[in-house]
Amino acid sequence: EMAPEERAFQQKIDADVKIEPKDWMPEGYRKTLIRQISQHAHSEIVGQLPEGNWITRAPTLERKAILLAKVQDEAGHGLYLYCAAETLGISRDQMTEQLLSGKAKYSSIFNYPTLTWADIGAIGWLVDGAAIMNQVPLQRCSYGPYARAMIRICKEESFHQRQGYDIMMKLCRGTPEQKEMAQDALDRWWRPALMMFGPPDDQSVHSAQSMAWKIKLNSNDELRQKFVDQTVPQAEYLGLKIPDPDLKWNEARGHYDFGELDWSEFYEVIKGNGPCNRERMEARRKAWEDGAWFREGLMAHARKKEARRMA
Ligand code: 3HC
Repeated sequence: EMAPEERAFQQKIDADVKIEPKDWMPEGYRKTLIRQISQHAHSEIVGQLPEGNWITRAPTLERKAILLAKVQDEAGHGLYLYCAAETLGISRDQMTEQLLSGKAKYSSIFNYPTLTWADIGAIGWLVDGAAIMNQVPLQRCSYGPYARAMIRICKEESFHQRQGYDIMMKLCRGTPEQKEMAQDALDRWWRPALMMFGPPDDQSVHSAQSMAWKIKLNSNDELRQKFVDQTVPQAEYLGLKIPDPDLKWNEARGHYDFGELDWSEFYEVIKGNGPCNRERMEARRKAWEDGAWFREGLMAHARKKEARRMA
């Protein structure tokens, strides 16, 4: 039996009334939003590392400028999302501590290496493509600050996906070696990109409650299927082969059937045993430590300014 304020809260959710930071909310609602928004922010920040690896090695000045702009966008997405999470009563320091201690997750996809320039194309096309698929519905989620942050982020993600697909088109229309690089990148990024949407619905611990609270508006499998249906024609246009022998159009369903994913790999990766987890955490830990003197300087300056103001 729901308490009166919980019933009133659920009625707002059912009526698509946005929940704002000062509104009453069930502790579970606050907790799962802090979990999801902070992990989303961590994903944006850690997501800069695989791509950052190629900024100094981009093939042209134009590609370098575009990649720089994309990586800077991801930093901004991380900051918006940390701000949205702070409205729920967690501090930036607490979120950083949760990431660096391994208590908080970030998207599995960023634990894979970027071995060639074609990976930058595959990431824009597939990873940002999957991120858009997952973030567009979040623009309508029930928590106001999260929904509003998503509106701006989705606009910038569209540029990220377009520039990635453009890199893939250039490679596929290039020399045989370039086309082979694009195929190799697709071979390595296809399955990890499908796993970004989360475990199968019957293994998803949060989906039922998150959907009742309109935090999650579509299930993991539903968005994964939508992504496959949209992306297969794009691979065909490039003349690339999707690395899945079971992939085939199912007229009766009106969707592509595709092969089982290896969920043991997924759980290993999110447990910290992916190809690059250690490297990613070391990079984040080093950035945090290297920045300590600067943060202390800012705080000392702020205290002095405050003291002068009070004097
Ligand atoms: N990577 C890491 N952990 C994942 C994951 C993934 N791809 N998918 C699921 N998980 C974790 C969940 O966090 C949960 O663990 P937890 O309880 O410790 O948090 C567990 O696996 C069970 O999964 P559920 O499906 O039950 O969890 P959710 O209901 O939270 O659904 C989600 C998972 C769909 C990823 C959801 O959290 C979500 O929509 N998050 C916001 C979007 C997001 O984080 N996207 C990251 C994409 S990368 C990005 O945006 C950068 C872009 O610019 C490229």
